[in-house]
Parts: sequence; C-alpha cells; structure tokens
Amino acid sequence: MIEASQFQRAHLDKLFLLANKIRFICKNKEGSLFLSSLLAHRNAMLYFTQPSTRTFLSFQTACHLLGMRTSEIRSSELSSEKKGESLFDSIRTFSSYVDLIVMRSPVANLSKNAAKLLDNTPRPVPIINGGSGPDEHPTQALLDVYTLQRCFELNGGLDGKTICMVGDLKRGRTIRSLALMLASFRDITIFFISPKEFGITDEFRRLLMSKENINFIESEDFVAGIKCADAIYMTRLQDEYDDLFHLGSYDTERYSLKYDDLKYVKNNAVILHPMPRRSELDVAIDSDSRAQYWRQERNGMWIRTALIATIFHLEKDILGYNS
Ligand code: NCD
Repeated sequence: MIEASQFQRAHLDKLFLLANKIRFICKNKEGSLFLSSLLAHRNAMLYFTQPSTRTFLSFQTACHLLGMRTSEIRSSELSSEKKGESLFDSIRTFSSYVDLIVMRSPVANLSKNAAKLLDNTPRPVPIINGGSGPDEHPTQALLDVYTLQRCFELNGGLDGKTICMVGDLKRGRTIRSLALMLASFRDITIFFISPKEFGITDEFRRLLMSKENINFIESEDFVAGIKCADAIYMTRLQDEYDDLFHLGSYDTERYSLKYDDLKYVKNNAVILHPMPRRSELDVAIDSDSRAQYWRQERNGMWIRTALIATIFHLEKDILGYNS
C-alpha cells in the first residue's frame, strides 16, 4: 500500500465498513479475543527511521489487535545500515523474518522502491507506506477521509464538500495524499491556503488538474478560506525539510487558527489536523465541538487495523462475526 491513488471509492467504502465493524467488535473481551486470534501466526516489522508518535503507535496497536507480533527499528543508527549495509539488503533481510513491513522514512519513494525490490524476490511480503519523506502518507489520508465520512454521516456525506487545507503545502505529505484520495469523491472543492512560496508544487498542481472530481483554489487569504469550509485541515510548518527545499520559515501566526477565528467557521464545520501541532492550532479550540482531531487520531488505529485485515484477506471472517 504505497500511494493514495491506489484506492478507488469502492475500496474505501469497503474499508470503512470493516473499520466500523472492528470498532464494534473491540467493545468487549470476547470480540477482542476473536480478533486477536486472526493473525496470531503472523509477524510484522515496523521500520520507522523518521520521528513518529501516532502513526507508529496506531500501527503497532493495529497489529496487536489482530494478534500479530511486532518488531521495530526506529533508527538506522541501530541497525546494520550503520555498518554499511545497503538499505535494500536490510529490507530484504526484514522479509526473511516477517509477513508485513510498515515503513516510514525521510526518503521520498522509499517504500515504492522497496516494494518493487521485494516483488522480484521469493518472499514479496506486503509493504505499507507509513510516510515517505515529503512525498506521500497514504494511510493518514485513509484516516482523514474515514473521519470526514463519519463526521458528515448525518450531513449529506463527503461528496460536494469544501475542504480548506492550510499550512506548509509544498512539503506537507499529508495534504498531498489527502487531496489525491478526495479525487475518489464527487464534486469536492479544495481551498489551498498558504504563503505563495509554501504553496503546492507545480508537479502536484498538474497532477490535480488531471483529476476530474477535484476543483481547487489556491490563495493566501486565510479568513476567506476558513469561512467557506465544511472542513478545515490545519498543518504545521515542515521545517525538517529545510535542507531539501531551502525554504526556511513564514509568519505562521497569519496561518494559525485561533479561538477568536471560530466566529468565521461554519457551525457544522469540522476541524482536523494530522498532528503534531504547534502554534497553528490553538489548544483553546480543543473543547469546541467542531474540533475532531482527537477522534481523528483514534480513527487511525481502526482504519489501519482494517487495512491490515484486508491485506490478509480477513474481511469475510470479520464482517461475518456475530457477538
Ligand atoms: C504527519 C506526518 O508525519 O507527515 N504526522 C502524522 O503522521 N500524523 C504530519 C506532520 O508531521 O506534520
């Protein structure tokens, strides 16, 4: 599972149904024991050589909910890469011991190349991209879209909605994967709000223009964007990529959602953030009913469990389970 555009609407609908069922099954001990029996004979590798809290923990918990054992590498300093082993030899080594690899790395396209490499070996174990540099973060898009669907369930669904994405859009991988996944829905409008130098890349703009279902507007006007939004997706400055893009910083204050700004936000709008947040999202907003980012991060655990279950063809067992 390498990029967001691998998912069509039908896949997403199936995955969301499965995540709902898993959420329900986990409510009692009997259900949890059933789930944890399903992959008790399988092992997963969590290769996370870039900082992570939510993605790491939610993948680890998702594996454990299904009974998988997990091993982890959280720094290339502590693996044989340090002794000069090529990353691809390391990845091939993981595939000798495990049945699934989840990878996060600062290197763009690494999981794609790792998957290609393993496809040409006798043990092509599945790879899930848990974030590949500034490139993509497809499972974040899954949890974002799942959250949007759940939030809009009683408000006409996600089709036809306006999503306002704010922040460092040039280097933020979550907005790239989310925008691509939203192309599976009908009549979505995306408002991209950022300072000009931090706007979406030319290459990404061309890609979005080739998608039929997405209308998008690029602007520096924060208030205009949040006023018309059904969902506001805040993101932070991605300054860990400064060396790569030589961009530096911007006045984050101008692109911050403050408690006072809530007066511009629709009453039934939804506020999301992939987290971690800095000052761009006022903690005072946490108690507002439109703030859905804590629910969003918990949804990551359910949707990742559903994704792993789908990779191992467990949909029928889980959907057929009666408590
Ligand atoms: C995001 C990421 O790593 O891209 N975090 C996450 O996975 N929830 C967003 C970010 O770091 O800004």
